[in-house]
Amino acid sequence: MIDLMEPHAIGLPLDRLDGRAKLTGTAPYALEHRVTQPLYLHPVQATIARGRVTAIDCAAAKALAGVVAVITHENAPRLASDEDKELWVLQSNEVRFRGQFVGAVIAETPEIALEAADLVRVTYAPQPHDSELHADRQDLYAPEQVNPDYPTDTNEGDVEAALASAAVTVDETYTTPMEHNNPMEMHACIALWANGGFTLYDSTQGAHSVRTTLAPVFGLAAERIKVIAPYVGGGFGSKGTAHAHNVLACLAARSVAGRPVKFALTRQQMFALAGYRTPTIQRVRLGADRDGHLTAIAHDVIEQTSRFKEFAEQTAVPTRMMYKAPNRRTTHRLAALDVPVPSWMRAPGETPGMFAAEVAMDELAVACGIDPIELRIRNEPEADPESGRPWSGRNLVGCLREGARRFGWARRDPRPAVRQQDGWLVGTGVASSTYPGYTLPGSRATIRYGEDQRYVVRIGAADIGTGTWTALTQIAADALGCPVEAIRLEIGGTDLPMASVEGGSSGINCWGSAIVAAARAFRDAHGADPAAGDEIGADMPENPEAERFSIHSFGAQFAEVHVHADTGEIRVPRMLGVFSAGRIINPKTARSQFIGGMTMGLSMALHEASILDPRFGHVVNHDFAGYHIPVNADIGALDAVWLDECDPHSNPMGSRGIGEIGIVGAAAAIANAAFHATGIRVRNLPLTADKFLR
Ligand code: MOS
Repeated sequence: MIDLMEPHAIGLPLDRLDGRAKLTGTAPYALEHRVTQPLYLHPVQATIARGRVTAIDCAAAKALAGVVAVITHENAPRLASDEDKELWVLQSNEVRFRGQFVGAVIAETPEIALEAADLVRVTYAPQPHDSELHADRQDLYAPEQVNPDYPTDTNEGDVEAALASAAVTVDETYTTPMEHNNPMEMHACIALWANGGFTLYDSTQGAHSVRTTLAPVFGLAAERIKVIAPYVGGGFGSKGTAHAHNVLACLAARSVAGRPVKFALTRQQMFALAGYRTPTIQRVRLGADRDGHLTAIAHDVIEQTSRFKEFAEQTAVPTRMMYKAPNRRTTHRLAALDVPVPSWMRAPGETPGMFAAEVAMDELAVACGIDPIELRIRNEPEADPESGRPWSGRNLVGCLREGARRFGWARRDPRPAVRQQDGWLVGTGVASSTYPGYTLPGSRATIRYGEDQRYVVRIGAADIGTGTWTALTQIAADALGCPVEAIRLEIGGTDLPMASVEGGSSGINCWGSAIVAAARAFRDAHGADPAAGDEIGADMPENPEAERFSIHSFGAQFAEVHVHADTGEIRVPRMLGVFSAGRIINPKTARSQFIGGMTMGLSMALHEASILDPRFGHVVNHDFAGYHIPVNADIGALDAVWLDECDPHSNPMGSRGIGEIGIVGAAAAIANAAFHATGIRVRNLPLTADKFLR
């Protein structure tokens, strides 16, 4: 068993410790750090989707007053490793996707850089490209594994036989579009080359992971790259890995050695250069007896990757553990296209996968004539169906029941398309949510008792707007048995002890565990009355429980949807999420994570779709005029609550991750509610008005 902490500061709804600095504009984001005599970079992007650059004429750009350098593949510093082709920037004349960097201007002002970039004349030898995903492609292939390291396919029992003999079946195909992360702070960095190393002020989910990714690319020892990222304006996964813009900024910094180079992607550039969620085509087949007990689940996924680098999303992975069925099969097949490489977007895998699976469950409930909550409860597995391990704390049923009570589910008429209010069709829907409890290796924390009689707690963790500054302070206070005022937390850079990336909702689990280990070591070494200067460090310990238990968070998403009977306009006046996520460190910041995730789920349900024009290979609607995300007026009464829990198997705090589970299942709940409102089953996101017009 894990030695759990007694919570004191943990559980308090503390205001964000970084709130004042952010509100007063004194918290520096990546581009705002004070540096001396900065230069500004503007990139030149490929206007073909595949081929070669045959000539670049930089003369007019170079002649512009204020231009300091123009770099292309012909003169850029050489990189050391092409293992990651996304980061192999300006090293050859090859063009692999439209929007790829083919050059950059570095100038005294951003305006001059932009103007000069426009003057660069690039000539191409285009090759035929192929940027369109569809289900009947002949070149679909099975990747070796899916993100981060799951088996590509699973097969248990005999799905085909079970489906053939099932009393009730569902066999439908669901699609989700390409989607792009749009954090408020665009991807930005300041790069400085001095004394044989880089200093990089970056907007990243992991300072250390940027360092360890870039070091081999530049052939440098990791210590020669210093990354500083105390405040980050959102990421959602798009800042979880270093991208080409980091490399380009560093190449530029080397070219103008001694002066810092500022580079911020524009919103439009982000649509080619910061990753995206792959579109998916998902066939889900369910077989059940008349009482809704599942006999078979099959989930077959088609998605895309880029031809030059593989990212295989784990879309069907949640289906492996979600419900009990003796026969289960999941597969993932990819098309490698001439497109930018997909990457992480909040709950990669679970988000699109649970959309398809949870709409299919709703369809099964309708087919069986069983309430959708009852259907899920009937298929609740006692242990993880995939691994056979006991759950560390699965309380999906508790979430569904508590949600039903709060949402007023008992009053629901199960018949679709029977409720109307002032010309609007009204319906309600439910879907389950889940997210794994990931642990990433490598985090370390140090604690020093200062002259000011406060504990300086240091770890290179990231706060991308999630509340890390506050939550880790609360954890440190309880671990040391002192008030939160006695903690001085330092996070957000590689000068601090190693920290794993803020990804997979693993941050608090990993960093908190390292801090608790350091605090316990500190007390063992220095007792309760330390002297100024006493210091100790500790690595995050292994958690043997993680091998014995299946650690996942769960949730139940409820939505009320109004669809206008004449126009198909769709509104979501009410949503409720109930979550089972272990102990909540800070209810205020946690609630913000949950409702933020649900908002992003509503956005996925109703708005988001990147439209890739296969003729040219680029995203056409690459700005907020064309790529819609919800505004305040789109969000109704949105509430998130959680069960009072402590997970004794995940970490000493008893917590699990909460950053991603809020989005999972939200789109399915809305789609299910839209069906209940209208009787029209839409299986293709987003749920736009045209899809509800008969
Ligand atoms: Mo999150 S998509 O794991 O950064």
